[in-house]
Amino acid sequence: MSFRNAPLAVIHDVDKDTLFTPEIRAEIDRHVAKYPPEWKQSAVMPALTLVQDHNGGWLSRELMDQVAAYLDMPEVSVYEVATFYGMYDLEPVGRHKVCVCNSISCMLGGSEELMQHIEHKYNVAPGETTADGKFTFKEFECLGACRHAPAVMVDKTYHECVTPESFDKLIKKLD
Ligand code: FES
Repeated sequence: MSFRNAPLAVIHDVDKDTLFTPEIRAEIDRHVAKYPPEWKQSAVMPALTLVQDHNGGWLSRELMDQVAAYLDMPEVSVYEVATFYGMYDLEPVGRHKVCVCNSISCMLGGSEELMQHIEHKYNVAPGETTADGKFTFKEFECLGACRHAPAVMVDKTYHECVTPESFDKLIKKLD
């Protein structure tokens, strides 16, 4: 998704009451309160995570614009964050997200074979969602679990030393 034509420093005058539910706003405010008032933009990552979680796992441009408006920051700055970090998705995703680390330790530990297994068995390439919508397969940079490679994150749960066989068991348990 390209935001090349996005305005550089426009803060939309959006009615904040329509942005998020009171619960989501309260949650964002809880993060905002951790920073000095002039640094409320520092809460952009937890705000995006919250909004994404409440939107079926992905961020529309409209939602990112709403986060920008709520935190009084330029829209393009929110796009920069959302496009830089792999945990944000800018298109609809499956019911689950399966993130396979393919950085060096995991590669040496067998992540390439694991990824090939996933591609062949579930007919899905990195960045794609299975035909039944069960999961979106994502190739990830280091998940920080290098000692127990290869590492896989299913939604927000880590799994370590994953083999093709143990991966299949994980997928079987998903709804
Ligand atoms: Fe895979 Fe660090 S290299 S978790």
